Amino acid sequence: MSHQPQSPLSAGRSRALSGRVRVPGDKSISHRALMFGALATGRTRICGLLEGVDVLDTAKALQALGCPVTKIGTTWEVLGRGIGGLAEPAGDIDYGNSGTGLRLMMGLVAGHDMRVRFVGDPSLSRRPMGRILKPLMQMGLDVSERGRETLPLTIRGSADLLPIEYRTPVASAQIKSAVLLAGLHASGETTVIEAQATRDHTERMLRHFGAELVVSERNGGRAITIAGDAELTARDVVVPGDPSSTAFLVSAALIVPGSEFVIEGVLVNPTRTGFYVTLKEMGADIAFRNEREEGGEPVADVRVRHSRLKGVRVPPERAPSMIDEYPVLACLAAFAEGETRMEGLSELKVKESDRLAATAAGLAANGVPAKVEGDALIVDGCRASGSVRGGGTVATHLDHRIAMAFLTLGLGADRPVTVDDADTIATSFPEFRGLMERLGATFAAPEVVR
Ligand code: S3P
Repeated sequence: MSHQPQSPLSAGRSRALSGRVRVPGDKSISHRALMFGALATGRTRICGLLEGVDVLDTAKALQALGCPVTKIGTTWEVLGRGIGGLAEPAGDIDYGNSGTGLRLMMGLVAGHDMRVRFVGDPSLSRRPMGRILKPLMQMGLDVSERGRETLPLTIRGSADLLPIEYRTPVASAQIKSAVLLAGLHASGETTVIEAQATRDHTERMLRHFGAELVVSERNGGRAITIAGDAELTARDVVVPGDPSSTAFLVSAALIVPGSEFVIEGVLVNPTRTGFYVTLKEMGADIAFRNEREEGGEPVADVRVRHSRLKGVRVPPERAPSMIDEYPVLACLAAFAEGETRMEGLSELKVKESDRLAATAAGLAANGVPAKVEGDALIVDGCRASGSVRGGGTVATHLDHRIAMAFLTLGLGADRPVTVDDADTIATSFPEFRGLMERLGATFAAPEVVR
């Protein structure tokens, strides 16, 4: 479970990027496709599944719980066990770095009368699980390590879960999804109320698999009600390209002069596009082309050109729709004219790393003036002074998005930028380096890049 940084990587100033590429499947949808497939009756086929380590950990977990998951050609197949049909695993379930996989899986295990011990890497072992355990315990989950809120944790589910009404204390699709997954196994209706809408892939996919789901306005929030004792039917799933992975490519185009390219088949679900809304406000030349629907989700080809950017204020209410994009937005803001102020970022402190601190430290190491004020991050753009200095080494803290954000910054900086551990990128975007290189970017071991 211990992890030594192994593979530092540097990115140097790049020539203009061009081409036409496709990014791998969306991480959130990939986890859910495997899990809903496991709870359905019949064979679910998944096209375009993200083969990042996080998602492969979900595939492994399901196999350990007695659900066959196999890859046949380019398609993944899940032989569903039906609601309540998973079996107690022989050993611990190691969820590596994946908070999403772990938290959703706890919701799924909650409806089974079995004991499961979860472990993870040092990053995951620091992240708060109380937010998931609290509602699940109200429904009947038992936790062996009383009062403990971090991994390792041993939970015992129940075949007789109680339905609850639960108002999420923070905007989190993971909490919402864990409770709805457990609600499928409860007797009666379970309702989750969220004050701010978060990504709605669970709701869309539940409907796709035939669950009874009602979404309504309640007490100023969004209420999602799922009928218990549910039955799901296996369905084919097509996973669209991940907009969070796309954000690094798009940012590279905006940073590197002369760049222009297209990323095909990207998920443009409005609960995920806050980053793209912000880019337009900053003056980015970016367009969604050929908008269409694929597998129940809106998809488009994204065309982006290098642009002169200006700093903006990003309001707190936009955070849920771009929560994973702040590190790369902060790096992009370094190249803008004027100040970019990103507000309402307290949730960034409990991601794979404390992203608020890690991003500010990475910017400082590369000569970009940045500060944290409460839960806001403020970046002073370097456009007026002419350039971003670079030349720093960034501590990634087992956080894939910190690594990718700062390698992207390096593509436009005066001096190469080094990240201390590029291995972590494989959790969500193993093709990152290859795709960037196909577009014309240059990466190398630190001593080689000049
Ligand atoms: C996710 C929800 C978000 C996001 C994560 C994926 C999901 O986390 O940061 O990468 O798939 O539900 P929170 O729900 O904790 O905000």
